[in-house]
Amino acid sequence: MTNSKLKIGIILGSTRQGRVSPQVGQWVKGIADKREDAEYEIVDIADFKLPFLGEGTGQEPGLQAWNEKLASLDGFVFIVQEYNHSITGALKNALDSAREAWNNKAAGIVSYGSTGGARAAEHLRGILGELKVADVRTHPTLSLFTDFENYSVFKPAELHLTNMNAMLDEVIAWSGALKTIR
Ligand SMILES: Cc1cc2nc3c(=O)[nH]c(=O)nc-3n(C[C@H](O)[C@H](O)[C@H](O)COP(=O)(O)O)c2cc1C
Repeated sequence: MTNSKLKIGIILGSTRQGRVSPQVGQWVKGIADKREDAEYEIVDIADFKLPFLGEGTGQEPGLQAWNEKLASLDGFVFIVQEYNHSITGALKNALDSAREAWNNKAAGIVSYGSTGGARAAEHLRGILGELKVADVRTHPTLSLFTDFENYSVFKPAELHLTNMNAMLDEVIAWSGALKTIR
């Protein structure tokens, strides 16, 4: 194994116009960058213009770029928003649109919704198991009622910082461990 820093992608799970996920992703990146223990980057599903799985030619540049981006990463932090008690269709399609590039990597989940996005996060955990992504236990949950103003301006409570760093500690430890078996 080389001494190069681990690469962790902070994946924005929503793509809708007016989404709040970029605010949450930037907050996570700000906390993560201060740790200087990995290279963290925002990965925005919207940038890849992924076709719905099976509806395109399979040769779309975005599909290839998505797989290459995932392949370049050692671990992930998913920014997960609850849509009808689950993850977004965009995130499910993005998960389905790669296979080996996910395998034997670690992930943390930061979720939000009326109940902290907990139901969406639990759905995601089941999917990650199938993709051989090891999801860590610690899971910061953000409330649409108390961590956002008017459900749109992100103002996270101070208390989330401890959980965020605990989650990142676990993602870094497991990402490093799993790198040794790839
Ligand atoms: C189609 C849809 C379904 C939703 N269903 C839920 C839900 O089941 N539970 C919940 O807590 N919030 C639900 N919400 C509220 C979203 O969690 C909230 O709008 C959040 O800001 C969405 O994330 P985004 O702004 O990054 O897209 C739903 C929103 C949409 C658009």
